[in-house]
Amino acid sequence: MGRVYEATCGRSFAAWYGLSMRLIDEWGLREIRREVLTQASGRTLDLGSGTGANLCLYAPEVDELVLTEPEVHMQRSLRRRLAAERRTDVELFQAPAEELPFTDSSFDCVVCTMVLCTIPLPATALTEAARVLKPDGKLLFLEHVRSEDPGFARLQDRWEKPWRFLTAGCHCNRDSLATIESSPFTVERLRRSQMPMAPLILKPLVYGSATLAAAWGSS
Ligand SMILES: C[S@@+](CC[C@H](N)C(=O)[O-])C[C@H]1O[C@@H](n2cnc3c(N)ncnc32)[C@H](O)[C@@H]1O
Repeated sequence: MGRVYEATCGRSFAAWYGLSMRLIDEWGLREIRREVLTQASGRTLDLGSGTGANLCLYAPEVDELVLTEPEVHMQRSLRRRLAAERRTDVELFQAPAEELPFTDSSFDCVVCTMVLCTIPLPATALTEAARVLKPDGKLLFLEHVRSEDPGFARLQDRWEKPWRFLTAGCHCNRDSLATIESSPFTVERLRRSQMPMAPLILKPLVYGSATLAAAWGSS
């Protein structure tokens, strides 16, 4: 993305995302987020935290929360929220999920919500997530995905390019569940739902948890 695009669209996308996500959360997404995030515990890493929609949903079982957000406008908005909510217990890193600045096996839980759609190299990000997770750690995910209905998936394909341009890189047609399934993780719990009050192309949701496949790290 060019510098002019980043300066203008990046800033307005962060503002628009914060507002629209607040509304979608109020219309029901927050309950799905909560269902996913109550399973987080121990030292937890939230990838591509955006404007911080997950922040208030972590349970006390999370004893250390680390956020990452590489995009400068999103990060600014997130810092404002952390300051407003006086969240001095949270660490924030400006790092892409494909290159995490953390040591191997240092987290109990990695969280990705609505982020595999945007990360340029989602498979690399999942390999990084596996690297920083402890062997008995878990991945929690909540993602909008490619529809299982071929006709609907074609509609997502048609809208992919303009949508990606408008939303600073979100691919509405990505099969993120397949990406998780072909990563070092084994999906243990999977639910499907619909994103409430969202544009049609973002409706299909998957959420659940995954653990490191037994063979991971043994080679
Ligand atoms: C649709 S927002 C989701 C934000 C938040 N996780 C949520 O659930 O509302 C996607 C986020 O991914 C971030 N992102 C973009 N590229 C990324 C990368 N390489 N690694 C991690 N996050 C990235 C964007 O800046 C944005 O904040």
